[in-house]
Amino acid sequence: MSNILLSCRNLAKSFSQIDAAPLEIFKNVSFEVSDSETISIVGSSGSGKTSLLQILAGLDSASDGRVIVCDEELTTLNQNQLCALRNKHLGFIYQFHHLLPEFTALENTMMPLIIGGMESKETREYAEYILQRIGLGKRLEHYPNQLSGGERQRVAIARAVVNKPKIVFADEPTGNLDNTTAHQVLDIFFELQQELKTSLIIVTHDREIAAKTQRIYTLHNGTLTANF
Ligand SMILES: Nc1ncnc2c1ncn2[C@@H]1O[C@H](COP(=O)(O)OP(=O)(O)OP(=O)(O)O)[C@@H](O)[C@H]1O
Ligand SMILES: [Mg+2]
Repeated sequence: MSNILLSCRNLAKSFSQIDAAPLEIFKNVSFEVSDSETISIVGSSGSGKTSLLQILAGLDSASDGRVIVCDEELTTLNQNQLCALRNKHLGFIYQFHHLLPEFTALENTMMPLIIGGMESKETREYAEYILQRIGLGKRLEHYPNQLSGGERQRVAIARAVVNKPKIVFADEPTGNLDNTTAHQVLDIFFELQQELKTSLIIVTHDREIAAKTQRIYTLHNGTLTANF
């Protein structure tokens, strides 16, 4: 039987504005993600995809509704508990890679392990293994400015999966890559996802990429609808 890893109920997000009614981004968003399930969220620029993903991953708070991740309701957790949950069970790939410039590819990949106090010979070997799998075995000691755009994005993917997370949140993980490279990088990413059996929520404007996931949702005019 499948196990629900994430569920959100009636989520809403709005931003308050000076001299105007609050800016409503979305409301009544509800869905669930099971063990090793892959889903995508598509929608045009400004539709609220990043805002939604950040709320689901506990990086931002909703204006209304609730999110339960790995049996924890996010609003009941304090900052430390939230950080611990994210570090242990979640992986995040940002719209822009956010690698730390003063650290090598291997060190960037190991950052969640270092932060979580899990740095060891074994975890270092595992980080090297992930980088090899993703085609960067010969780039371990390169700094971000010594890597191509696609290579940086692959390091960001390696970093997101190095702690064997239960769920990976990916925000346009290949948005700034050419089409061929984007698909190559994603194919490796999906292989890793299957190998690690992590659930995946991917935000993309690319329907071909979305088609690689089991379910597709569209965010449009503040409403999330399932395309089944
Ligand atoms: N901190 C903020 N304050 C006010 N408005 C915001 C804030 N953050 C985002 N918005 C607005 O919310 C809307 C949704 O933004 P979001 O980044 O979620 O869109 P998106 O779907 O990820 O777009 P893209 O595909 O361009 O990345 C946008 O219109 C944006 O201007
Ligand atoms: Mg976005």
